[in-house]
Amino acid sequence: MGGSASRRMLGSTENRQQEDTHDDGRGLSRHGHPARSRRRKPAEPGRQDWSSWPHYDGAAAGFRGYWYPVTWSSQVTGKPLPFTICGERIALIRDNGTAYALHNRCPHRGVPLSEGNQQFPGTVSCPYHGWTFDLPTGRLSAVITDGPECRLTGKLGVRTYPVEERLGMVWVYIPIADEEPHSIDSQLPEELVSNAFVMGGRIEPRGGNWRFACENGFDEGHAKYLHRTALWRLFKPMPTWNITRIVPRGRWIFRVQDEVHWDAEFPGVGRWSNKRWWKMQPPKETFNIGNTGKADSVDPTIEAQDFPGFASLSMPGVLRIAYPKFIHYEFYVPVDEDNHRYVGVMVNFTEGWETLRFYAKYLGAIRWLFHGQFSGQDAWMVDVTDAPPEKLYRPDISLTAWRNLSEEEYGKKLAAVDGASAPEEKA
Ligand code: FES
Ligand SMILES: [Fe+2]
Repeated sequence: MGGSASRRMLGSTENRQQEDTHDDGRGLSRHGHPARSRRRKPAEPGRQDWSSWPHYDGAAAGFRGYWYPVTWSSQVTGKPLPFTICGERIALIRDNGTAYALHNRCPHRGVPLSEGNQQFPGTVSCPYHGWTFDLPTGRLSAVITDGPECRLTGKLGVRTYPVEERLGMVWVYIPIADEEPHSIDSQLPEELVSNAFVMGGRIEPRGGNWRFACENGFDEGHAKYLHRTALWRLFKPMPTWNITRIVPRGRWIFRVQDEVHWDAEFPGVGRWSNKRWWKMQPPKETFNIGNTGKADSVDPTIEAQDFPGFASLSMPGVLRIAYPKFIHYEFYVPVDEDNHRYVGVMVNFTEGWETLRFYAKYLGAIRWLFHGQFSGQDAWMVDVTDAPPEKLYRPDISLTAWRNLSEEEYGKKLAAVDGASAPEEKA
């Protein structure tokens, strides 16, 4: 089973997976040479570092070259606000309806521009000495305390970042070099670009590296165990264990369930199940939409996507969980090596009066049960995860497939950005 599953995985996952699951345990390093320093101690089990995914390993502060959701559009006003994305300090401000992002550091003495305010339309002024920057370009457009003849005016400025607004949020593009950004729509989940929908969501600063958050989101093994106590799952049992394979489709990887086991007898230990008398009976057949069972009816827009599995993931850390009537998305936004922003969005593809029903359900239940307590269990784990080193197990095929995907996608991206800037370099 495991063999046929791994053969369908992306790229060289199979070898990597074998490395993880069939650790030699004989004091040999990963390249097969005797590890001299370990000879007297028992060998460290598993994977000691992430060097087989160099781009991923290097992306502790995030993958540059992507759009990231920062905050709700309604939060961005004429009063600048500070954020950190991919280790970059950014000030967001709105002027005349348009949101702007500037490097949040005044070149004069390093005061954050987010501490300042607007003295002239289309600009922001540093609070210290009144250096004033043009919002669209970041150029220094006036220096209030040096008079109109200030010789620095127009000669320097602060970096600006491309900004878009989608899903009621302000998104900022964090460049690799000075490249033009790709269109934000090409990075959003396809079904959110052309369909009408209503949504509710939660944006929250959280502790822990963004990669732990992303890996947790797609982690096959944890949901059925960690979340078995969530109130969201009070009346629905979670499986005990599954057989899962990873199916790539376009820029996404999907988790596909081939077998779902609702209880198991563990030799010498006992029986384990999450079934309870007050919970619904688990479904008879294997299902791939929602995580507790097959639905009687599926929303037509969701059905039309024909997702091979209910959990999918794409760069730069976008998780999609398809339920029969709505889709839940998580965007893991890198802040710095130790912090991320959790952006959880629940989307319902309805229009008109139906939207009221969704809002009532979202505010009455989903917001606190799902985006609150359930997701709080994830936040807890992400904050206390400490890897590598790590000893991966069979269900971690979801983790290694994601790392492989990000490695490949980022390699392609770097090549494209390199190619785009190459002619200039040669000239
Ligand atoms: S530090 Fe910004 S104006 Fe002086
Ligand atoms: Fe979870």
